[in-house]
Amino acid sequence: MSDAHQPTLIDASGDGQVADFPEPAPLDSHGPARIIAMCNQKGGVGKTTTTINLGAALAEYGRRVLIVDFDPQGAASAGLGVNANELDRTIYSVLMEPRSDVREIIHETAIDNLDIVPANIDLSAAEVTLVTEVAREQALTRVLRPVLDDYDLILVDCQPSLGLLTVNALTAAHGVMIPLEAEFFALRGVALLMETIDKVSERINPRLELDGILVTMYDGRTLHAREVLERVREGFGERVFDTIINRTIKFPDATIATEPITSYAPTHPGAHAYRRLARELVARGDVA
Ligand SMILES: Nc1ncnc2c1ncn2[C@@H]1O[C@H](COP(=O)(O)OP(=O)(O)OP(=O)(O)O)[C@@H](O)[C@H]1O
Ligand SMILES: [Mg+2]
Repeated sequence: MSDAHQPTLIDASGDGQVADFPEPAPLDSHGPARIIAMCNQKGGVGKTTTTINLGAALAEYGRRVLIVDFDPQGAASAGLGVNANELDRTIYSVLMEPRSDVREIIHETAIDNLDIVPANIDLSAAEVTLVTEVAREQALTRVLRPVLDDYDLILVDCQPSLGLLTVNALTAAHGVMIPLEAEFFALRGVALLMETIDKVSERINPRLELDGILVTMYDGRTLHAREVLERVREGFGERVFDTIINRTIKFPDATIATEPITSYAPTHPGAHAYRRLARELVARGDVA
C-alpha cells in the first residue's frame, strides 16, 4: 500500500481525509482482473453495499467489473436487480460442475460495464459438499480463470463467516478489503480475520494482500463514532482507507430500489463517497 499520492493532496477539511484523488485515466484495453474479496465475518458491516457501490463507481470510470455473489443470502444479486431465487444455474452450479463455464451464468446489470455472477440459497450446500473435494480451497479460483482477461476488477462479496467459502474467496483473491462499521464492537473478531488472511497467504495464496480497511456507517456527529475511527486508525495506520462511508438511509433505500446508489441517487454524498473510494483504489494502484 503506497502513500505516494499524499503529498500532492490537501487535507482541506482537516478531518484527516485528503481533499481528493485524481480522476482515473481512461483504459484502452481491459484485464487481467484484480480479484478483491470483501470480507468480514461480522454481519451487517457493509460488505454487500461496498461491493455493489464500489463496483458501480469503478464501472462508471470505465473499468470492466464483475461482482461475484458468494453469499447464499444472495444480497448482491438482489441489490443489482437479479432475482436469483428464480435461477436454476448460479455460482453454485459452476462450483459443483468442474466442466461448466462461468460465462454461462454471468448476468449483465442495468449499469454499463458491471456484470454479476448470482447466488442463491443453493450455495449454502457448497460449504458442506466442497469439504470432501480435492483442492477444495481452489474451487472459486478455477471458476474465475476463464474470465480474468475480460474484466479489470472482480469483487467477491463474502458471507459473514470464515468458513470454506470465504477461504475460497481469499484463495482466489489478489487483495482483501475489510469493511468495518464505526461502532463500539467493530474491532471484535478482526484479529481472527487477520489470522485467517495470514494463514491463507502463508499456506495457499502467497500473493494475497490486505488492500485496506474501510470504515462504514460513520456518523461524525457522535463522539463515539469519532473515537472508534481514531482507534481504528491507531491500530491499523496506513491500512485504513482515507475514504470513509457515512451512515445514511439512502443506502438501504437504494437496496430496496435494487440499484447502486451511484445510479439511484447520483449526486448524493453517499454516491460521491464510493466514487472517491474508487479513485483512491486506482490512485494507490490497487486497481488499473
Ligand atoms: N453507510 C451506510 N449507512 C446506512 N446504512 C447502511 C450503510 N451501509 C450499509 N447499510 C445498510 O446496512 C445493512 C447491512 O449492510 P450490508 O448488507 O451491506 O452488510 P453486509 O456486511 O453485507 O451484511 P451481511 O454480513 O449480512 O452480508 C443493509 O440494510 C444496508 O442497506
Ligand atoms: Mg452481505
